[in-house]
Amino acid sequence: MNYGSFDDNSREYVINTPKTPLPWINYLGNKDFFSLVSNTCGGYSFYKDAKLLRLTRYRYNACPMDTNGKYFYIKDGDTVWNPGWQPTKTDLDSYECRHGMGYSRFNSSKNGVSASLLTFVPMSDTCEIHKLSLTNESGSDKEITLFSYVEFCLWNAMDDMTNFQRNLSTGEVEVIGSAIYHKTEYRERRNHYALWYVNTDIESFDTSRDDFLGVYNGPDCPDAVKNGHCTGSVASGWYPVGCHEVKVSLKPGETKTCIFILGYCENPDDDKWEEKGVINKTPAKKLIEKFSTEEGVDKAFNELKDYWATLLSRFHVDSENPHVNRMVNIWNQYQCMVTFNMSRSASYYESGIGRGMGFRDSCQDLLGFVHLIPDRARERIIDIASTQFKDGSAYHQYQPLTKKGNSDIGSGFNDDPLWLIAGTSAYIRETGDTSILDENVPYDNDWSVATTLFEHLTRSFNYTVTHKGPHGLPLIGRADWNDCLNLNCFSEHPGESFQTFGPSEGPVAESIFIGGMFVKYGKEYADLCALCGKTDEQKRAEDEVATMEKAILSHGWDGEWFIRAYDANGNKVGSNECEEGKIYIEPQGFCVLSGVGKETGEAEKALRSVEKYLDSKYGIMILQPAYTKYHVELGEISSYPPGYKENAGIFCHNNPWVSIAETVLGHGNRAFEIYKKTCPSYLEEISDIHRTEPYVYSQMVAGKDAKFFGQGKNSWLTGTAAWTFTDISQYILGVYPTLKGLSIDPCIPSDFGDFKIHREYRNASYDIEVHTNGSEKGVKKLIVNGQEISGSTVIPYDENVKEYKVTVEM
Ligand code: GLC
Ligand code: GLC
Repeated sequence: MNYGSFDDNSREYVINTPKTPLPWINYLGNKDFFSLVSNTCGGYSFYKDAKLLRLTRYRYNACPMDTNGKYFYIKDGDTVWNPGWQPTKTDLDSYECRHGMGYSRFNSSKNGVSASLLTFVPMSDTCEIHKLSLTNESGSDKEITLFSYVEFCLWNAMDDMTNFQRNLSTGEVEVIGSAIYHKTEYRERRNHYALWYVNTDIESFDTSRDDFLGVYNGPDCPDAVKNGHCTGSVASGWYPVGCHEVKVSLKPGETKTCIFILGYCENPDDDKWEEKGVINKTPAKKLIEKFSTEEGVDKAFNELKDYWATLLSRFHVDSENPHVNRMVNIWNQYQCMVTFNMSRSASYYESGIGRGMGFRDSCQDLLGFVHLIPDRARERIIDIASTQFKDGSAYHQYQPLTKKGNSDIGSGFNDDPLWLIAGTSAYIRETGDTSILDENVPYDNDWSVATTLFEHLTRSFNYTVTHKGPHGLPLIGRADWNDCLNLNCFSEHPGESFQTFGPSEGPVAESIFIGGMFVKYGKEYADLCALCGKTDEQKRAEDEVATMEKAILSHGWDGEWFIRAYDANGNKVGSNECEEGKIYIEPQGFCVLSGVGKETGEAEKALRSVEKYLDSKYGIMILQPAYTKYHVELGEISSYPPGYKENAGIFCHNNPWVSIAETVLGHGNRAFEIYKKTCPSYLEEISDIHRTEPYVYSQMVAGKDAKFFGQGKNSWLTGTAAWTFTDISQYILGVYPTLKGLSIDPCIPSDFGDFKIHREYRNASYDIEVHTNGSEKGVKKLIVNGQEISGSTVIPYDENVKEYKVTVEM
């Protein structure tokens, strides 16, 4: 069942009922000010950090679901309704929500009045705009009272939810004309406040929640709205809110527009006050001046539209497949940018107060956005590398505001270091900028021990070389990519963190997955050595990779598939010998995509085993059979009910690894079949089963053992975005950036048809036409600007050539 449809020309998803199976959200903001907005106007805003500088309150775990947002009440006679349906839930005569690139629009109507609400965050200002137009479509005059409502968060979202003994006495506001200023704690250590403004005269206002709503009411039936007027309350302690009351008289056919601004304002420490106790409003006045006219708002909105049009023009495919076109050209790249901005911090599943940035998550996200914003990717790599330890290991997470490693979780996730090589290699392949390798970068933010970034990569590489177990395979530490396979932790009591319980250096538990990663990124490291003329180091790296490949084939092969790990007792995990969890996806994906067993047949066998044992109609499950009891020697993975999350769920993140692995073996049909199964646009018609947004990937879809097989969870903030984009753009469509230039080597389904790609790469643009012939892989002819290239699929990059016309004959 569909709840909306794609409007590809406008780059929008159009939702046509507020009653979607779950809130379907969008993200606003590109730099410092961010908002989440749902299809019923739910959501919240923050400045830079969703935990520490949250402007408005949201209630996770609330019922009804999706409680709190930026709400507008339209009171027309006795009827009160909202453009986004919530919170009054008054039946609307028409409703539409359009989520676009960095903005959302609501168009709805009731009793002859239509509302059109546009909400977005401008490119370079710290505010959110709501432009609301009301039109009288009836034949008679309308006297409408419009109310606005936002509930302020007292900045630190965690403290705001827990520390009531203090917080309920701290709330403070100022109200001047139509501007409401939320200034809680400004007097002491803070130098920032929030603005909630409307560009018209108001009848009245409220800033105390108890006065606007009534102590025992929710936002679905505020007293003030019921009574038709605000009370002019000035909050002192308790619950500060921002509410305007505006009279809107409309003749038949007439439209009136109000602009609301939710702003974040900061003052220099020596210029905080206008007079004693009165905040300096200069930054707020600037926002008001800029956005209180429609021209100002339209200009900022056009800037936002242009930004996205330019960004998304860097990779554009034109194929016969509308799903591929819209996911590649619009939504998949958009989601990659959201993961760049949010990492794993704020979504409707990530509360914004939990994890900071993940070391491995951020390195992988980079694979999906490096072609869009290479300069910011460069900065990100340096930030991440600055949290690495001297011995090459890494903090598992770091805080975006301080950029410091998070010592609560610490280190000991032994895949982390290798992801730094993955990210850096992707950056250099994209940009050709080897100067990044010479940058001086600290360890654990300590400049006294800084070295070049190249040396950081060497230490990443060496960390695996010097941390091997009895089978010559990499020690796993607390966990590898699979955070929930905790082979050295042995937690037996509720409330203990599965991941940090027990020693961070496990005795002997080994990971075949890290082995596969080492082969892949060890080769990329060797290539970087070659590029920098470090031939001895290149040779050493290649030898280590060869040694690892041997170890995997001798001790990591189970006969039909790759083993997942050896536990702390030396027992196999993910082997036919096991009762539960006989086969896992990760080593099959990563060993094969790195080429392990390609020549000797294990690779092909492993992928056929994936198809036989792990595949399902909604994607490839992480393992089978699911664990049905808790295994203390395996940890969190066996704590989930069968079919959910890491216990045999379809963890979408690693499905593209298998798809990529299939392209390495030349199987375009199967690679694409895997791509299709988790592709949101293909799932649109089963939205009632899938439940999450049909325009973005979810972290997990419940596996076949689960009660709700096929149900998505944890949409938006997942490594799935970057990996599926890598899969479809670089391996299936086959436009892969190498250190020397773009390689074009598609691996497609036999009936895919001809296609064209436009790609901006380094300082040139590439217009690529691929002529297919029914085969899945193999380039017969590559013609670049009229010249045939033979013996390679790589178009050598020449900085003097700005335009490449490329024809590929398969
Ligand atoms: C989550 C984590 C990621 C991890 C994955 C598998 O998505 O963010 O780091 O690899 O789970 O456990
Ligand atoms: C939990 C989640 C897992 C996630 C991890 C990150 O264990 O189940 O998916 O990767 O937390 O810390």
